Amino acid sequence: MTAPARYCVFGNPVAHSKSPAIHAEFARQTGEDIDYQARLAPLDGFADSVHSFIASGGCGANVTVPFKEEAFRLCSARSARAQLAGAVNTLSFDGTQILGDNTDGAGLVRDLTVNLETPLTGRRILLLGGGGAARGAIGPILEQRPEQLFIANRTASKASDLATLFSSLGPVTGGGFPELAGSCFDVVINATSASLSGDIPPLPAGVFAPEALAYDMMYGKSDTPFIAYARQLGVTRLADGLGMLVEQAAEAFFVWRGIRPDSLPVLDKLRRT
Ligand code: ATR
Repeated sequence: MTAPARYCVFGNPVAHSKSPAIHAEFARQTGEDIDYQARLAPLDGFADSVHSFIASGGCGANVTVPFKEEAFRLCSARSARAQLAGAVNTLSFDGTQILGDNTDGAGLVRDLTVNLETPLTGRRILLLGGGGAARGAIGPILEQRPEQLFIANRTASKASDLATLFSSLGPVTGGGFPELAGSCFDVVINATSASLSGDIPPLPAGVFAPEALAYDMMYGKSDTPFIAYARQLGVTRLADGLGMLVEQAAEAFFVWRGIRPDSLPVLDKLRRT
């Protein structure tokens, strides 16, 4: 009998990660023989951790906070979508080669368009944030050909720089939150880390169009501060980032195993636990 193919997620902290449970479900569902563990990498020892995992027979890995940009630099080759995102969340090992991919943006778009039945084509999209999480979403959102993508960030220059960087891919502009006054959007995606400190980005009340979807990349047992704020403003279509988490994992599983798992039962199970 051959040993299972070994994968892991590197992060710091990583003990809370749901990825091992998600990939265990995918493996059970597809009959793929894999072993997937969470691995704590020291803050100054990410590259060493990856190399020792490769040396011990690892086939691939996911990468989470705070190592996605370092993973990008470590790779010997990168997919086009990783290149656009400037970050890597999925590594595949091929001999001494480390191949980098990024499935976060694809996971977000699949959660929005398939699970939440919210097409982005021809819609007005507002993306909040100017860090790595926001950047990873821009290419995949523009691929859906929205009418407009506006990136709003506390530090306005980061949003306008991102818009400039991606301007050849579609109708994208960026600026500070005050620039949102008088505009409204069909889909508002929170990619800031404001929820972590219990904050919400300062949004004018009129920013949500009727029937708009408020989507937070963060998730929690109860409403995130952003979702709570949107609910308070009367928004009824609300979603947190648990679906994105499962979909980025499904896409990574596909990259590694060539089989697309059925993500919905896994998402349902996570919501119930
Ligand atoms: P990530 O990789 O999760 O995107 P990051 O690169 O540190 O993390 O980016 C965090 C994002 O959240 C930034 O857009 C940050 O705004 P600034 O660029 O102005 O720093 C945003 N952010 C963090 N706390 C915030 C708050 N309290 N209100 C609004 N935006 C906030």
